Amino acid sequence: MLEHHRKLERTAIGFVLAIMLVASIGGFIEIAPLFTIDETVEDVPDMRLYTPLEQAGRNIYTREGCYACHSQMIRTLQDEVERYGPYSLAVESKYDHPMLWGSKRTGPDLARVGDKYSDAWHVKHLMDPRSVMPTSVMPAYKWLARTPLDYEDLGLHLKTLRKVGVPYTDAMIEHAAADAFGQANPNSDEAYDLEERYGEDSNIRVFDGDSARLTEMDALVAYLQILGQLTDASYQETPLQSNKGTE
Ligand code: HEC
Repeated sequence: MLEHHRKLERTAIGFVLAIMLVASIGGFIEIAPLFTIDETVEDVPDMRLYTPLEQAGRNIYTREGCYACHSQMIRTLQDEVERYGPYSLAVESKYDHPMLWGSKRTGPDLARVGDKYSDAWHVKHLMDPRSVMPTSVMPAYKWLARTPLDYEDLGLHLKTLRKVGVPYTDAMIEHAAADAFGQANPNSDEAYDLEERYGEDSNIRVFDGDSARLTEMDALVAYLQILGQLTDASYQETPLQSNKGTE
């Protein structure tokens, strides 16, 4: 064996070819699953889009690096399902660019945190995690509540997402800024328009407890409250099997 290896190492071309062969086997194994992506990602009709405000919250989540401590991916293991809820389906991340599955859990998984707590709880927790969870090691994010949300360019953001396959319509892109404002101002005309575009189930309310201003806190809480709520496919008994049955 050693003898063979010594010979191989001394023939430059042979060694290069051997490296290429081994690397391409590794490459193929990584790429091959993508050929079946259409069958892997379930097709669910009730999958809804992130509203502009939720998308803005998602950007803040990325900017603040929340993914360094929190995953958004419940695995098919029994203890995870018992703790967090039904395991994550591929379709639930269909419109996530970039995906925020994460790889480390200093804090709990957040894939199903939407609707678990009130908005007020999230605000209090983000302002000072130890006020609700005395042993928490999560940092405080106080500035989110006093930083006005920069929402004028959200239309461009949705447009970019459309380029990578998220089906935002022209109207959604054109009215993105107004829709972001409307979602956190329930009594405005904009709120009514948002509901028309994104559906009656949209969460329209004052997320940060202060209706006078649209803040980064509004956006982040709106995002946290939609996690796991984009489709109820994973709550159906055997989503994968029932999906296959309809093909
Ligand atoms: C240094 C690691 C760390 C970072 C960074 C971090 N968290 Fe946490 N988070 C935790 C820990 C630990 C807990 C559990 C204790 C608690 O509830 O505070 C937690 C809990 C939570 C919970 C409650 C989850 C549940 O099911 O009870 C939410 C929501 C949350 N974090 C959101 C965020 C958001 C949003 C950010 C970014 C703005 C963030 N976290 C950043 C460590 C972190």
